[in-house]
Amino acid sequence: MSREIRITPSILNADFSRLDQEIRKIAEVSDLLHLDVMDDVFVPNFTFDFEAASAIIKTSVLAVDAHLMVANVDEVAVQYAEIGCASVTIHAEATKNIPQTLRNIRKAGSRSSLGIKPNTDISDYHSVIDDVDMFLIMTVEPGFGGQSFMENMMDKVRRTREMIGDRPIWLQVDGGISMKTIEMALDAGADTFVVGSAVFNAPDPAAMVVSLREYATAHGNK
Ligand code: DX5
Ligand code: ZN
Repeated sequence: MSREIRITPSILNADFSRLDQEIRKIAEVSDLLHLDVMDDVFVPNFTFDFEAASAIIKTSVLAVDAHLMVANVDEVAVQYAEIGCASVTIHAEATKNIPQTLRNIRKAGSRSSLGIKPNTDISDYHSVIDDVDMFLIMTVEPGFGGQSFMENMMDKVRRTREMIGDRPIWLQVDGGISMKTIEMALDAGADTFVVGSAVFNAPDPAAMVVSLREYATAHGNK
């Protein structure tokens, strides 16, 4: 079965002092810009508060896939949707009312996405499947770019793909994706790939996005 592939580069390892230029490097060949928002509470790292993230979202030439790694995310998630993100991911571990917050994100005009950390089981979230436009399976512990891909998450990706069945829900993986690891995630059923360091550490980031997409499309349609 042919599968639509999406590449969503993460700017976590890009040069924050000239983000605008960094985003332009990959804008034409990427589906969405993956924006990692970290609060130093839910994860041991800080990237942007809402104000700083809003400035990026409002000026980005590429539509934004906001990955919110923040505690007590229920209210702020809706604000991210309201300012125009294409997709907003909340973490199951950080959300008080998961179905309600997913619905509120949709109502505000964004795709709703539920992310889970490596130690969280996906089967607990079958009950919210009708409120979800994307599942994000973390393939590293959230917090930092450049970590090694956790191959042992592939069983969870496979189970999530089974759970999704015929529904038009995207299945995203995030952490350690590169030309070396994308095949495993594809085989397990992922269709949407966050790629941080493998893109921004490449000599030509746009060419890397194109290579990943070509490989994934060819492999996915075999
Ligand atoms: C980690 C972030 C990822 C990260 C991916 O917490 O959610 O999006 O930036 O970076 P790489 O591809 O380098 O693992
Ligand atoms: Zn991320």
